[in-house]
Amino acid sequence: MGNDKGMDKAGEVARYGGMRWFDVRWVLVVGMLGLPGRGLLQGQSLAPEAPPEVSEYMGRTVAQTMHYAGAGWLIRNKRDREEGTLRMREALELKPGMVVCDLGSGNGYHSLPMAKAVAPEGKVLAVDIQPEMLEMLKERAAAQAVTNVECIVGEVHDPHLPEGSCDLILLVDVYHEFSHPEVMLKAIHKALKPDGKVVLVEFRAEDLTVPIKPEHKMSKAQILKELEANGFALKRSFEELPWQHMMWFGKSE
Ligand SMILES: C[S@@+](CC[C@H](N)C(=O)[O-])C[C@H]1O[C@@H](n2cnc3c(N)ncnc32)[C@H](O)[C@@H]1O
Repeated sequence: MGNDKGMDKAGEVARYGGMRWFDVRWVLVVGMLGLPGRGLLQGQSLAPEAPPEVSEYMGRTVAQTMHYAGAGWLIRNKRDREEGTLRMREALELKPGMVVCDLGSGNGYHSLPMAKAVAPEGKVLAVDIQPEMLEMLKERAAAQAVTNVECIVGEVHDPHLPEGSCDLILLVDVYHEFSHPEVMLKAIHKALKPDGKVVLVEFRAEDLTVPIKPEHKMSKAQILKELEANGFALKRSFEELPWQHMMWFGKSE
């Protein structure tokens, strides 16, 4: 398969490919200490009006948030080879002038090339609930002289996006981590321009050879079920990526 994610020592499929088992255990320990709630980070409190987080949604187990200590995995050299990330971004058909949100941006693996693609008039809104991820993104943007990325520290139930502002909202390997899927989908709906699209890129649950833990994968049927129940309609899908579904949704209501 050309990757070394393989099986970890516990015989379980490892999520953090390219890391040694020692590193994986360290990340898991830090992750557990830093994530008292499913999506909640240490030191972060939910506003009193925030709805309760969910551990299951429409028959699916919600995954733990990937901790920033594992961010190196997101920018590993072989990521394009494994996930076809260049092809994925080409399929987005980005144009100069577009406003694109990278929701759950992590350290900006996709934000930075997308910012270059929409420059000079366009911009990327990079949203993440972990300020540490956004700090790494800012350092990487400075190193590449990218100036059209705005970083937004989101909350688990609110991406703090301006209403009607986005042509495209991209979620790569993020949606399955939402501890508040319904409120987040409402916020995404509101943040899109009338004919804006949200694009989900999710590891294929139907494919057992994709070396990712089951709760970090989603089936096409499950994605459809959840998005259609929340005011979205499928517009397009791209099934040529090695490991992931790629699905575009527009507003149905
Ligand atoms: C697996 S990483 C993927 C990062 C990036 N999309 C990429 O492909 O390189 C998931 C990211 O989503 C973020 N995240 C999880 N829930 C979120 C939420 N409700 N709002 C914004 N970011 C969230 C996490 O903090 C983490 O940085």
